[in-house]
Amino acid sequence: MKTLLLGKSGLLGSYFSSRYSPSREELDMCNYEALEEYISKLKPDFVINCTGYTAVDDAEISGADAFKLNAEAVGKLASFCEKNGSILIHFSTDYVFDGEDENGYTEDAVPSPINIYGKSKLDGEKLVEDNMDRYYIIRTSWMFGNPEKDFVGTVLKLAETRDELNIVADQIGSPTFAKDLAAAVKKNFIKRSDLPPFGIYHITNSGACSWYDFASEIFKQCGLEIKLNKVSSNAISRPAMRPKYSILRNTKLEKNLRPWDKALKKYLSRKLPVFSVFN
Ligand SMILES: NC(=O)c1ccc[n+]([C@@H]2O[C@H](COP(=O)([O-])OP(=O)(O)OC[C@H]3O[C@@H](n4cnc5c(N)ncnc54)[C@H](OP(=O)(O)O)[C@@H]3O)[C@@H](O)[C@H]2O)c1
Repeated sequence: MKTLLLGKSGLLGSYFSSRYSPSREELDMCNYEALEEYISKLKPDFVINCTGYTAVDDAEISGADAFKLNAEAVGKLASFCEKNGSILIHFSTDYVFDGEDENGYTEDAVPSPINIYGKSKLDGEKLVEDNMDRYYIIRTSWMFGNPEKDFVGTVLKLAETRDELNIVADQIGSPTFAKDLAAAVKKNFIKRSDLPPFGIYHITNSGACSWYDFASEIFKQCGLEIKLNKVSSNAISRPAMRPKYSILRNTKLEKNLRPWDKALKKYLSRKLPVFSVFN
């Protein structure tokens, strides 16, 4: 089976492997001629798209770049996949929802994004749906798995130079270990002989918490003492608004991923330089 992996250097992409995993320099998603040629020559069974414009605040300023990669290029990718018989696995986000529903969102809930990043990702979803039939759109949230890019690494680095940290306590979501997500995608979609119905899926680690709870758990598990202050989203001035409740409910896959705090424990047990203060 041939799998084309796009976005291998990213947080999520690094947890997949494939013989065919061109870097951005080797295959730019926005070079449509090159993209079409690559796919029509390889004719992969699956294309796993882990690329994305993921800088949520920057997207408010560089909206055109976000729409180009998260929407226009995804639409092109979908049509090339359709033409060449490839199944597309594409990732989307909790940020397609407005976050007003504290019960969370099922796969068929109506999206209503409140920031540019969310809007660009929703446009990408729609272009996949419009341009092909054999796709899996997998929405996930609050991903961790690379300390250079995630909340875990960010707060641990801040704690090296500060005595206290202000952490947002009025946004609720489900932290998700990229390794668990990638394993679930392989098990449920790529390696299954009886493919589940095409469409939208929600995959996150189980449970939900605020960023404050997440930070508290990180420091607790690391055995580090630091003063954490609960603050509201309004107290922190950021270009992009964030949904208050971005809980993605899975009603389609049989098994949910393990609880987020257990996944965090596994992640923190790794011998990574940023974790060396406590292990
Ligand atoms: N991170 C989260 O918390 C989160 C939450 C929900 C959903 N998601 C979704 O999950 C997916 C993966 O996110 P991530 O956090 O792993 O992203 P990431 O770490 O920001 O990685 C993005 C990847 O896209 C590549 N890329 C960027 N522009 C490209 C282009 N023009 N052509 C080819 N490749 C390009 C990057 O390559 P370079 O390294 O060369 O720049 C990198 O490999 C995205 O669809 C994102 O929307 C993420």
